[in-house]
Amino acid sequence: MEAHLTEWLNLGIRWIHMITGIAWIGASFYFVWLENNLNRSNPREGLSGDLWAIHGGGIYHLEKYKLAPPKMPDNLHWFKWEAYFTWLSGVALMLVVYYLNPSAYLIKPGVDLAPEMAIVIGFGSMIAGYVAYHFLCDSALGKRPALLGAVLFVLLIAAAYGFSQIFSGRAAYIHVGAIIGTIMVGNVFFTIMPAQRALVKAIEDNTTPDPRLPAKGLLRSRHNNYFTLPVLFIMISNHFPSTYGSQYNWLILAGIAILAVLVRHYFNTRHASNKFAWTLPAAALGMLCLAYVTAPVRPAPSSAPVAATSSPQASTATLAKVEAIGAAQAPEASATAADGADFAKVNQVIQERCAVCHSAQPSSPMFSAAPAGLMLDTPQQIQQQAAKIHAQSVASQIMPLGNITQMTQEERELIGAWIAQGAQIN
Ligand code: HEC
Repeated sequence: MEAHLTEWLNLGIRWIHMITGIAWIGASFYFVWLENNLNRSNPREGLSGDLWAIHGGGIYHLEKYKLAPPKMPDNLHWFKWEAYFTWLSGVALMLVVYYLNPSAYLIKPGVDLAPEMAIVIGFGSMIAGYVAYHFLCDSALGKRPALLGAVLFVLLIAAAYGFSQIFSGRAAYIHVGAIIGTIMVGNVFFTIMPAQRALVKAIEDNTTPDPRLPAKGLLRSRHNNYFTLPVLFIMISNHFPSTYGSQYNWLILAGIAILAVLVRHYFNTRHASNKFAWTLPAAALGMLCLAYVTAPVRPAPSSAPVAATSSPQASTATLAKVEAIGAAQAPEASATAADGADFAKVNQVIQERCAVCHSAQPSSPMFSAAPAGLMLDTPQQIQQQAAKIHAQSVASQIMPLGNITQMTQEERELIGAWIAQGAQIN
């Protein structure tokens, strides 16, 4: 029952997080686009530019004032609640997924860290990240945006490396995302909003606004803009074990973040010139390289028994895939382990280490239904899912979750060998 409730709590909060996140990032994209596309030639008196647009069957005319309209409008729209709710729902989601189940989701298997301590480190790093960022922006570095960007990047990747030593891969990624998200919402709350309030107040009081405030707000809002694509990747990264599940997950994250920032830079500058158009093919190539370097490693020769070169029953696409894995490993196979991989042993390991969760009726109290819908109750199910089992418990070791069922290296190698031999079940 409790597991079922947690699942629906997760669902509700995740949904809200997505909706508010889309509203926030969507508005951010829209206003950057607006700013970059304003028609600035011969603007009307007092304007810095205007823009015509058609959307949803209507034509819009927007005008941007140099500073302020002659009279403040009664109804000025502010954009802040989408940011605040994205952060609040994100923290709530972190709580439900990671902090309620630290030993399964948060702590790296084999690391001796008290759950409370792990949570303090996780949550504390969000706050510490924002404070460090804030002081860096206000320091002399704040006047050298490119250098500041590079320093921030190195610090974030250092955080990713640190997390990867104590947190599970997915938790490490999410915590980097949480630091970035906290910086972004902190920018809105502590810098951009106060700057806007001061501007509006100065206009209402007929005094000259402090020009440093909008400049600060602009720098922070630029940062937020560059943060969006990396943080969006991190939000979906949980689906991609070949990234977070790798031993070098922090490096892979660094690579993806660089590509994302390059692409964002092109979209931020293309109204002025196409000088950065090369970033698009470069990013595509970069993604291909990352896909290549994250490909599963072949097992060490000693652990791979003779690979069956053909498998008569192989007819389904899944089996073809399994065979591909087997074939790829064949050249390094040695003749030692004809004893290795009979299915009875494999089945026993899977029932013991996996089926507590991956079952039609999980015995683990953490789940009321098979996680990710994956059931490993019958030999047929195991055979059908062999490629996925390989990816998650042999090539990377992200399963069993938190290694809660304490799967051993030998058991992983046994499963790897069975799959390399063609995943036969009789
Ligand atoms: C403590 C519970 C638990 C145990 C034990 C466990 N898993 Fe999982 N497994 C999960 C959860 C939770 C997910 C979903 C992860 C997510 O949120 O994406 C998952 C996802 C998977 C997936 C991805 C399915 C998909 O379609 O995305 C595979 C494959 C997998 N597990 C294989 C295994 C194997 C093989 C074992 C045993 C060696 C194992 N798991 C043990 C909880 C567990």
